[in-house]
Amino acid sequence: MTPTLRPRSDGITNWRNRTIWTGDNLAVMRGMNSNSVDLIYLDPPFNSNRNYSAPIGSEAAGAAFKDTWTLDDVDLAEHGEIADRNPALYKVIDAAGDAHGKGMKSYLIMMGTRLLEMRRLLKDSGSIYLHCDPTAGHYLKLVMDAVFGSGNFVNEIVWRRFGSHNDATRRYGRVHDILLFYSMGDRFTWNRVFEPYDEEYLKKSYRNKDSRGRYTTSPLQARTLSGGGYEWKGIVDIWKFPMERLEALDAEGLIHWPEKGSIPRRKVYLDEAKGVPARDVILDIKPLSTGAKERLGYPTQKPLALLKRIIAASSQPDDVVLDPFCGCATACIAAEQLDRQWVGIDLSPLAAALVLRRAENEIGSLFAIDHRTDIPRRSDLGKLPNYRTHKHTLYGLQEGVCAGCQVHFPFRNLTVDHKTPRSRGGGDHFENLQLLCGACNSAKGDGTMAELLARLNH
Ligand SMILES: C[S@@+](CC[C@H](N)C(=O)[O-])C[C@H]1O[C@@H](n2cnc3c(N)ncnc32)[C@H](O)[C@@H]1O
Repeated sequence: MTPTLRPRSDGITNWRNRTIWTGDNLAVMRGMNSNSVDLIYLDPPFNSNRNYSAPIGSEAAGAAFKDTWTLDDVDLAEHGEIADRNPALYKVIDAAGDAHGKGMKSYLIMMGTRLLEMRRLLKDSGSIYLHCDPTAGHYLKLVMDAVFGSGNFVNEIVWRRFGSHNDATRRYGRVHDILLFYSMGDRFTWNRVFEPYDEEYLKKSYRNKDSRGRYTTSPLQARTLSGGGYEWKGIVDIWKFPMERLEALDAEGLIHWPEKGSIPRRKVYLDEAKGVPARDVILDIKPLSTGAKERLGYPTQKPLALLKRIIAASSQPDDVVLDPFCGCATACIAAEQLDRQWVGIDLSPLAAALVLRRAENEIGSLFAIDHRTDIPRRSDLGKLPNYRTHKHTLYGLQEGVCAGCQVHFPFRNLTVDHKTPRSRGGGDHFENLQLLCGACNSAKGDGTMAELLARLNH
């Protein structure tokens, strides 16, 4: 099933290329324009029940993030918002909570609200890769089905993240991560990408070597073609090429003449071969070793090669790439190397410092980034009427009852309130507005409805 698409805007971003935001990605994404991003890669906390920090003395020293979840960590208003925006997602999260417990439920509420925003940001030709591991991967796939539509599932990619793992005393060693790849529909961008041949295949197929390097061979005959052949160098056969082309290939040394037998073949050098079309089990991209040049010590840093494969496959040059949990900005650097536009968001201010250091180390160039800490204001909603002009409509809809204390008030005693405060990315559009009485409005302040209701219930 595919969730119904909302009308979409013209896809213009309200931020500049090479922006890093320091802050909660939910508030930042709420302020970003709809339909403005081509590719999202996200590598959020995995619900691993651990807290991470970078080693002292490493380039990323000071970076830390928590990956333990309880219901206190999420805003219950977000849960209510999920019920309104996507009832199937709400049911999935509740079922996961019943099966696995409150920690998983809280984690999925956090992820669900953010994934709903990501879907709003993606263009119709866009794609999303959610990096996770088997801790929550099975629930996240249901969450992704509910948000993006099961028909838009493209691949579950397994990346072998560890060579070995010493957690295997009573089970198989857990060595892989999972990437859930979904598109926004049939028109998603796809470029064929290749992975290198493995050693065994190379040994078997690229057995020959000359002064130009290792090569394999391919037939020069086209026996499936109908029509008469001709004689070349004393061999009568149905050749793939006209005689002049065969002569030219031979003159360039591109024809392999076997010692025994008389069937020549065309040489195909290893350095011209693209490799094997990339598969959904990634074994050729190794985890970052302790001594790897690109390693900064940032907890859970991912290899650039992995991000480059994803970005090359699922976007075009100049497309917009978003990483809302960007850590030490691996996806941003990979996007820069592939000439894409990018934006990264992270709670940690280190992302902004590290992206510049990495640009110098890995790209060898310095560029200006836009480092922002504000909540952006959407520019794709058209010119909204002043939000106060909705007061009459809201009064009718709420039948004069305050959305907080549920008491009836005369028109003049109710005030227009932003359900999600502006400081948390809430906009001036009608769906984000409600009427509160003066007392509830000042009790709510810059908080959410969940916070207000908790206060009112005490
Ligand atoms: C697994 S790490 C990402 C690592 C990254 N892919 C890299 O290669 O460096 C997850 C990141 O998510 C960030 N994070 C967690 N919750 C967040 C939130 N609500 N908003 C923004 N960033 C968040 C953490 O600070 C952490 O840097």
